Amino acid sequence: MGQTNGHAAPGQNGRAYEFVDHAFDVVVVGAGGAGLRATLGMAEQGLKTACITKVFPTRSHTVAAQGGIAASLRNMTPDSWQWHMYDTVKGSDWLGDVDAMQYLAMEAPKAVYELEHYGVPFSRTEDGRIYQRPFGGHMQNFGEGPPVQRTCAAADRTGHAILHTLYGQSLKNNAEFFIEYFAIDLIMSDDGQCTGVIAWNLDDGTIHRFAAKMVVLATGGYGRSYFSATSAHTCTGDGNGMIARAGLPLQDMEFVQFHPTGIYGAGCLITEGARGEGGYLVNGEGERFMERYAPSAKDLASRDVVSRCMTMEIREGRGVGKNKDHIYLHLDHLDPAVLHERLPGISESAKIFAGVDVTREPIPVLPTVHYNMGGIPTNYWGEVLNANSENPERLAPGLMAVGEAGCASVHGANRLGSNSLIDLVVFGRAAAIRAGQIIDRDSAIPSINEAQSERIMDRFDRLRHANGSSPTAEVRGTMQRIMQEDAAVFRTQESLESGCKRMSQLWGALGDLKVTDRSMIWNSDLVETLELENLMACSITTVYGAEARKESRGAHAREDYKDGPLGGRDDENWRKHTLAWVDDSGGIKLDYRPVHTELIAEGIAMEKIAPKARVY
Ligand code: FUM
Repeated sequence: MGQTNGHAAPGQNGRAYEFVDHAFDVVVVGAGGAGLRATLGMAEQGLKTACITKVFPTRSHTVAAQGGIAASLRNMTPDSWQWHMYDTVKGSDWLGDVDAMQYLAMEAPKAVYELEHYGVPFSRTEDGRIYQRPFGGHMQNFGEGPPVQRTCAAADRTGHAILHTLYGQSLKNNAEFFIEYFAIDLIMSDDGQCTGVIAWNLDDGTIHRFAAKMVVLATGGYGRSYFSATSAHTCTGDGNGMIARAGLPLQDMEFVQFHPTGIYGAGCLITEGARGEGGYLVNGEGERFMERYAPSAKDLASRDVVSRCMTMEIREGRGVGKNKDHIYLHLDHLDPAVLHERLPGISESAKIFAGVDVTREPIPVLPTVHYNMGGIPTNYWGEVLNANSENPERLAPGLMAVGEAGCASVHGANRLGSNSLIDLVVFGRAAAIRAGQIIDRDSAIPSINEAQSERIMDRFDRLRHANGSSPTAEVRGTMQRIMQEDAAVFRTQESLESGCKRMSQLWGALGDLKVTDRSMIWNSDLVETLELENLMACSITTVYGAEARKESRGAHAREDYKDGPLGGRDDENWRKHTLAWVDDSGGIKLDYRPVHTELIAEGIAMEKIAPKARVY
């Protein structure tokens, strides 16, 4: 374990914060699928690896991933990495980076077989191979054929199975876990290298400084910027917040995915696997309306498309229920044995959260915030970019980001279902491979920047003793309502301008926060305040990026840009990544960098993936 040293940062009321210091080759922040896969890969190579996590590893949000993990195994239908790549490019609405998307599709089968060998208990076909189900936007033959069965599943608890396996394997490989430690901020050297991270042990109140040759941010998304989200309450964009405070940019934050089937009212996820197994959506007139909008893929069109269609049905008065404000998902025509074997988890969720027996009644559902395509810009090895338009590939040394926190950018403007779990393991693994190549095992672990440690603790102390008039929960509630109202499934110039104005005003409340608990042990008031600052950085960059982007693309659907052959998409001016910086006073700076359009290997013709209209 670490050592208590002579250094201490001053706190209010004469109390100083003493540091417990640690030194590692690699520190991974976050223990979801990406964090654990990176941790395991680093530890397997003999790198001295720590994993810091604010929740017990198997409670990380990956545990909630239901439907499965995409890889072209060909166990049930014809498939190829080229088809998977094509679907991912098209799903991204041509904003994804081609190198990252090719790497994902090519490496996916290997990454899944590795999971199998590590012990993930996948569901099986009759002849013992990994079971695969259809998922939205995954098709055969470059989108020309029927749905492909590409999504490998462990019933509807795939994330749960992966997380438990990766945690066990990481322990077996001697990774050190610091559980229920909240990462406060990155320790940066004066010349911009990341040299570690400071974390607060929630259980005993001690403050820990982790010096490291490489810090890997695997802190997940920021779904809790919105009022209604399938994301856990812990999805507060903590890595993104740390990046913003380090003066580094966030990328493509305007692209926020709404999952078509959150349970109405509760927001809990009903997996797309339910439609993959034959479920379908119905409006208030009893019509299977997706046949009208997406004649080929129907209910298995891409998520952004299905969410928009549901929203249009509701707006046009064809919703279901007393207020005609949601849609029904029918599973009651399916064999109860299939529901029991393939969808036990969502059958239970529907009973608990909607009071519905799925064998007899439809589930009330509504598009619900589910995933952030944007995040910390990286290359496809997970190395963080300190990019701007003049230096679009400049690295931020000592820093990696993987999983939903990172933006490789493999999902572009819209992610396909089941491409998240595969992103976690492919890029968690890639980061470990890269770290193994670039970390000099014989070099000294960097020393800690004392002045910066003090600044980090000053901020912590200011929040701990905040005594203004705006309670954290109140500010968070206001932020969530603004995001839900002004940066939703459909956006307009008016709604986005309103979002920018309201978020900038709300930023002022961060200087007037009220925290009532001053203790250091299990102080959830202070945890939520640190999380709020992270969420605010995410929210404000989301609305400003969205207001500036004058087109419709993927999940960014603007009603004022919807005409033309590409449905409002403007490749000439907007096929580029947004970069956004936010300063301490809420000032926003935007810049752009080009999309990567080069392949990393042969095997697919560029014409196959050239931009065109996106229809399902
Ligand atoms: O619908 C689902 O099971 C979610 C999967 C995903 O977001 O990849």
